[in-house]
Amino acid sequence: MSNLNFGLIGTGFMGKAHAIALRAVGTVFPEVAHPELVCLVDKNATVAQQFADAWGFESASDDWIGMCRSDAIDVVDICTPNHLHMEMALTAIEAGKHVYCEKPLALTAAQARRIRSAAESASIKTAAGFNYICNPLIAAARDMIASGEIGEVHEFRGSYREDYLADPSTPYGWRCARKRAGAGALADLGSHLICMAEFLLGPIDSVLGSLTTVHDLRPDPVSGGMRTVENDDIAQALVVFERGCPGTMEISRVATGKKCGLGLEVCGVKGSIAFDQERMNELRLYRADSRPGRRGYRRILAGPAHPDYSAFCPAPGHGLGFNDLKIIEIRNLLRSIESGDEVHADFNTACRVQEICDAIETSHNGQQWIDVSSNALEQLQLSA
Ligand SMILES: NC(=O)c1ccc[n+]([C@@H]2O[C@H](COP(=O)([O-])OP(=O)(O)OC[C@H]3O[C@@H](n4cnc5c(N)ncnc54)[C@H](O)[C@@H]3O)[C@@H](O)[C@H]2O)c1
Repeated sequence: MSNLNFGLIGTGFMGKAHAIALRAVGTVFPEVAHPELVCLVDKNATVAQQFADAWGFESASDDWIGMCRSDAIDVVDICTPNHLHMEMALTAIEAGKHVYCEKPLALTAAQARRIRSAAESASIKTAAGFNYICNPLIAAARDMIASGEIGEVHEFRGSYREDYLADPSTPYGWRCARKRAGAGALADLGSHLICMAEFLLGPIDSVLGSLTTVHDLRPDPVSGGMRTVENDDIAQALVVFERGCPGTMEISRVATGKKCGLGLEVCGVKGSIAFDQERMNELRLYRADSRPGRRGYRRILAGPAHPDYSAFCPAPGHGLGFNDLKIIEIRNLLRSIESGDEVHADFNTACRVQEICDAIETSHNGQQWIDVSSNALEQLQLSA
């Protein structure tokens, strides 16, 4: 087991989350190769140097291409706005590096397919930042569904609602620009929900989407005037899974009061499961076979019985946090580089998520159901 040299790009929200996880993963999971913090890149050289000093990176740079091509780097970690993902990922893959990239993988499915195809032709491993599926309780929910514990699943209800753009006076940022973000709430939050839905219930077969922009204009900090928002504030979709189960998805970045409202309800014949990311250490389980008068949801607290939890804490109910999910995500990538096993979610999964996001937009534009089964997507790929 030799250590792996990381080059991290970005010092924002995700740059910091990845830096925390890179520093911690070797002690929380000593069985995997340890990351070496070799190079920190930001577009601003001074910011890069300050961040590198604070977080213990050996060097700092404002040249991401040079870092990607450097022989000193084994893994390129991309934490920049969405429009930079494709160019950065392709450069890193071409240089033979393993790539860890934040979600969404790209601006469009066509871009995501280019990245996936380059990654498939190279002997490298990839991982995408769909951290919420790394929660040990989500693994438990998946087991409950797969083992039939709640019986045949007949309904899925998923939401990912936040309020970071609920205030119309919140300034225009990169997430509002089509060329820098792609879709709006759909790409930013919906991508997590789609990944989670397929992780739990298997492939989605078809989608019917509806998109709304609630606040069309926002103050532009650059010009001082107002600027037009170019993507959705709210995305809604009806979905049908290949297993036959219907579902709904509600995605919003203007849901006043919701901070990290990734919520799920999975209803089966014998029981139901409910989860809310704002209470990420609780899974609620309803068993229909309890006797009348005693039926009701019970609350399962995360604990050492759920794999990966005990690496952080020996006591049940004490809880993991958002950044711990990133530690598990990076462990998954490191383990995969060593073992050759697949990572979930890798760029293949991230590309499929992107294809479903695109299909929801296409559905909204054409006001019709879109077939997203693997066969249909392959045909779309041929004609694209
Ligand atoms: N997995 C999650 O839960 C999660 C949460 C938030 C954001 N994200 C994703 O992470 C990515 C980054 O989001 P964020 O919130 O950290 O954004 P941010 O705006 O906070 O940070 C972006 C960083 O990229 C840097 N940057 C921009 N252009 C650059 C360039 N040309 N070269 C080098 N550095 C450059 C900026 O200086 C900044 O440090 C996005 O793709 C976003 O969707 C994922």
